[in-house]
Amino acid sequence: MDKKVRFAVVGCGRIAPKHAESIVALPEAELVAVCDIIPEKAQAFADKYGAKPYTSYEEMLAKEDIEVVTIATSSDLHAPIGIAAAKSGKHVMVEKPMAMTLKSADELIKTCKDNGVKLEVIHQNRFNKSVKLMRKALEEGRFGKMTHGQATVRWNRDDNYYAQASWRGTKLQDGGVLMNQSIHNIDLLQWTFGPVESVFGYTTTAMRKIEMEDVGGAVIKFKSGAIGLIEAASTIYPKNIEETLNVFGSTGSVIIGGIAVNRIEAWEFPKSEEEKKQIFASQESDPPTVYGFGHREVISDMIQAIREDRTPAIPGEEGRKALEIILAIYKCQETKEPVVFPLVEE
Ligand SMILES: NC(=O)c1ccc[n+]([C@@H]2O[C@H](COP(=O)([O-])OP(=O)(O)OC[C@H]3O[C@@H](n4cnc5c(N)ncnc54)[C@H](O)[C@@H]3O)[C@@H](O)[C@H]2O)c1
Repeated sequence: MDKKVRFAVVGCGRIAPKHAESIVALPEAELVAVCDIIPEKAQAFADKYGAKPYTSYEEMLAKEDIEVVTIATSSDLHAPIGIAAAKSGKHVMVEKPMAMTLKSADELIKTCKDNGVKLEVIHQNRFNKSVKLMRKALEEGRFGKMTHGQATVRWNRDDNYYAQASWRGTKLQDGGVLMNQSIHNIDLLQWTFGPVESVFGYTTTAMRKIEMEDVGGAVIKFKSGAIGLIEAASTIYPKNIEETLNVFGSTGSVIIGGIAVNRIEAWEFPKSEEEKKQIFASQESDPPTVYGFGHREVISDMIQAIREDRTPAIPGEEGRKALEIILAIYKCQETKEPVVFPLVEE
């Protein structure tokens, strides 16, 4: 067997166990080091997963023989830590959003390229079984002419959630429900419908005590002529209800719902009765958390990308696309004007 790929995780908070559990479970991977600025968190995480703790990622990068760094800190630090990792020759896996601005996303992409390392953005829902089925139908042209789609996130994040960490819901470090909770589904919408021509949207802070939005709505005009709708809310009473992607074309209708785009709810194509029965009979149940099961597959994809020396499935250029849509919606909220792509940042 090939040598194990050596990983480190930076940021040992809520999502980090998904990284560590995936790395530890993959026979081709090894968790070497973990890092958190809070020493107790780094130590407890290192003890749990059998790795070496650090409180400085710079020190960790300098001392450890690591091949891949996965970054699970607050979102504003993804690009700077990714850039530091790339400059020290490590491949980079970055949580969503890959950066808070297009400028910093581009710097991260360029630095990875310049240093010959791979960059993958963690949009794990692309690996959901239901999403892969829809994607295959799309690639086979079964939808016919794509007409419209909708990405819906109806979740609950209460004031306690936002109070857990000072970066949550802030403009500079997190964004609101569009940037944080809905970016995965917006990524799926744009991945399905292709390049964006223009976007218009509104956001509001209806209930939570945060700087950014807890409700957002937007309309996308895709270059193909198809229309995309986005509905995003972290205010849903009393709990998470759904994350749903609707995909409609002249000869196909697919709705993927469940708690986190994990269950096919409609599957309509010509002569598809038998296929539909089989799909409905082998549905996955809802995952225990909205994070789903995909982290292991994204991390596994990076390992294969290294071994085969190919581009990862979700490179930086892909992660940038949903970021551009969300930043455009934020711009609409300020200017009350549609944004024609590409988005130009001030
Ligand atoms: N893919 C997903 O489905 C998913 C789900 C949840 C969160 N996320 C993303 O993961 C990131 C982290 O979210 P979270 O909810 O785990 O946050 P969190 O606040 O629970 O954890 C972040 C951790 O990073 C640490 N940290 C901060 N600065 C650091 C530094 N300079 N070096 C090392 N560690 C540092 C903090 O101490 C904290 O422990 C966010 O960007 C979020 O958007 C992704």
